[in-house]
Amino acid sequence: MTKADNLWGGRFTGKADETFAEFNNSFRFDQRLFKADVQASIAHAEGLFQAGILTRLEAEKIKNGLLTLLKRADFNKSYFDETDSEDVHSFIETKLIQIIGDTGRKLHTGRSRNDQVATAFRLWLREKIEEISALIGELQKALVESAEKQKTAVLPGYTHLQRAMPVLWAHWCLAYFEMFSRDRERLDEVWRRTNVLPLGSAALAGTSFEIDREAVARELKFEGVTANSLDAVSDRDFAIEFVGACALVMVHLSRFAEDLILYASSEFQFIELSDAVSTGSSLMPQKKNPDALELIRGKAGRIFGHQTALLSMMKGLPLAYNKDMQEDKEAVFDTVDNVGISLKVAAIVMRNLRVNEEKTRAAATKGYLNATELADYLVHKNVPFRTAHDTVGKVVLYAISKNKELNELRLEEFQQFSDEIKQDVFDALSLEKTLAAKNQIGGTSPERVYEALEAAKRSLIVDNG
Ligand code: ARG
Repeated sequence: MTKADNLWGGRFTGKADETFAEFNNSFRFDQRLFKADVQASIAHAEGLFQAGILTRLEAEKIKNGLLTLLKRADFNKSYFDETDSEDVHSFIETKLIQIIGDTGRKLHTGRSRNDQVATAFRLWLREKIEEISALIGELQKALVESAEKQKTAVLPGYTHLQRAMPVLWAHWCLAYFEMFSRDRERLDEVWRRTNVLPLGSAALAGTSFEIDREAVARELKFEGVTANSLDAVSDRDFAIEFVGACALVMVHLSRFAEDLILYASSEFQFIELSDAVSTGSSLMPQKKNPDALELIRGKAGRIFGHQTALLSMMKGLPLAYNKDMQEDKEAVFDTVDNVGISLKVAAIVMRNLRVNEEKTRAAATKGYLNATELADYLVHKNVPFRTAHDTVGKVVLYAISKNKELNELRLEEFQQFSDEIKQDVFDALSLEKTLAAKNQIGGTSPERVYEALEAAKRSLIVDNG
């Protein structure tokens, strides 16, 4: 970088060291903010005209010049290659001056790169939050579709990864649907706080030009303007909470991936993953590996890393702007990219998997998953639950010794443990009855689950509208 290439050369007589320049420059990554920064610059030019700083003609010249930049960048894929600009803001200003001449030198009146970068970053992120939220919506749709396709499939539910109680496959799908609904709510909240205009805060103290900040905010469709200039240029809460919300998305995706990896294993054989999202082994011909899901699980750690990086980067910074904050971009960009692709792949996995209903049903009927049901049966015969629990424990121990499931015992065998047990016990212990009994809101009875499925479909229509 030579003295002439940057925007602040006046005070300098010496050239920047090349290694330092490479270290300092952010253009190679912050060029992603190009459109957002042009958009904000156009609104700023209008603000300067309204404030009487630019004539109408000058403002139009600047705006047209900026639009020309957009077109050139669209047209020429290598537009960003030919430069050694310090950052995207310098790039835009330099190019503008090249195109329209000295009028371009008026654009930076009343603003600093400090409020400019905060504005462009918010504008850019606002759109990306909407995209991520829509991708979550797509995955939710895939979950609902799988639930509907395999409406009667039953599998064991687990605690401690031990078979616990039978649940509907649809119930499993809707569990993840719920998590992702909360993720979308969180992202909506982040969107709201991102959607505020910092421009007009200038370097740190506000601007002395009579720029109507609220009019600029309206132009850029921001909900309002930031209330304190010191805060506005040094606030990156919105970026951190975005990455935080994404970290939770990744927690949910990672658990989803882990469940499916287990279910696809030979030990479980609950599901078959599509060839489209699996790979083979270069050595072992029999292998079909769930790479798509493993990568999703693996990428979660990377996003948590970005959250930690941002939090630690901010915590010691004195007010207001510090160059440390340039480190915010790559963390957020990488989060957007990797959460986005993980969501897309998760939806493809979900849309293409097949539930092996015989296997899941067989697993749900073996391993005493109806033991609690037997205890509840005794409670209905007025036995205190703690006593019932103890009795059923003994029945289970006995059944294990006979290598039988509970519903394979004879009535007399049951009655050795409690004479409250009658013929109707066999009906109560059936898989259908066990499921149907979980009939309160949130439970896994078919009635409740199908209701929840309808509610999920309705909420998707509203959210994806
Ligand atoms: N590239 C810088 C960043 O991302 C833009 C702001 C630079 N401001 C400054 N005073 N050097 O943070």
